[in-house]
Amino acid sequence: MILVIGGAGYIGSHAVKLLLDQGYQVVVFDNLSTGHQEAVDPRAVFVQGELGSRTDLDHLFSKYPIEGVMHFAAHIQVGESVTDPFKYYENNVASTLTLLSVMLQHGVKKLIFSSTAAVYGLPEEDVIQEELPANPINPYGRSKWMVEQILQDFSYAYGLEYVALRYFNAAGADQSGKIGEDHDPETHLIPVILQHLLGLREKITVFGTDYPTPDGTCIRDYIHVVDLVEAHIYAMRALLDNRVKNEAFNLGTGHGYSVKEVIDMCEKVTGKKATVEYGARREGDPPKLVASSEKMHRVLGWKPTHNLEDIVRTAWNWHRNHPNGYVDKRHHV
Ligand code: UFG
Repeated sequence: MILVIGGAGYIGSHAVKLLLDQGYQVVVFDNLSTGHQEAVDPRAVFVQGELGSRTDLDHLFSKYPIEGVMHFAAHIQVGESVTDPFKYYENNVASTLTLLSVMLQHGVKKLIFSSTAAVYGLPEEDVIQEELPANPINPYGRSKWMVEQILQDFSYAYGLEYVALRYFNAAGADQSGKIGEDHDPETHLIPVILQHLLGLREKITVFGTDYPTPDGTCIRDYIHVVDLVEAHIYAMRALLDNRVKNEAFNLGTGHGYSVKEVIDMCEKVTGKKATVEYGARREGDPPKLVASSEKMHRVLGWKPTHNLEDIVRTAWNWHRNHPNGYVDKRHHV
């Protein structure tokens, strides 16, 4: 059985569905602080609890025959991490330590950890490889890098076996249209544009037009959430089969798109015209983040199969049927 921590969240809920579709048994553990119970596939066992609670975790590991853990539960807002770092170190680092301790106590040694491109800070490389030294520039990125270092030390000292997956820009939604992105507040580019095109936001603001990129706006590597969670399953299978351990991999597509190109794609897919305001830079945004996923392909055989258009199409399918996210039970067509 696979334990999915944070399985009620955006990426976690997609991982749960794919694991179940591929025949795994799944137990979801989530405190529903930002996740949604409706996002959890009913075929999974759902347990509500706190990651920082040794008692909750101990109960979970005693009750279910857990072979491997996927850990998606984290706070993810860069700006908030600067103003409230305690929240980030407490949840992303301290609670993860409690998880590791309980896992080891129960003899569970296989972990897939959700890390981030934010560990690289402000890289100047055109395409980012895993060998690049970590140099996070905010508490969010540091919290993830701290955990990666803890995992290295725990693998050496206690035999923990982990894979850290460094996400670039996850976006899109499952084909079914039943699960998708629902953050509060929503700050990510693609859902913000689509919410605007649905009439839920007055306009879109492009953060900065003077970056050293061809059109002056930031370039990111958008990866379809289904490709992303598929990579987790490749990694978990390899961990369980003892084909890999104690490695970090980038998860991206190797292709970058500027903010303007993403807006163009959203207009093309939806057939609607956006009202765009060109504003100042957002603090802490690197000009360009594009992943080399060559290592993930070479070592585990994984390759993304969806492009930006697939990402926007599936995200649009989700947003227009759930304009207010999971809260909205009415289904629009
Ligand atoms: N952007 C806009 N306007 C918006 C929203 C975003 O112009 O309203 C721009 C941003 O400035 C950035 C790009 O669109 O250039 C993508 O922004 P997102 O907020 O969607 O994503 P980020 O690249 O900032 O963040 C991603 C993850 C975070 C993670 C971060 C680490 O979504 O969770 O990478 O670098 F922390």
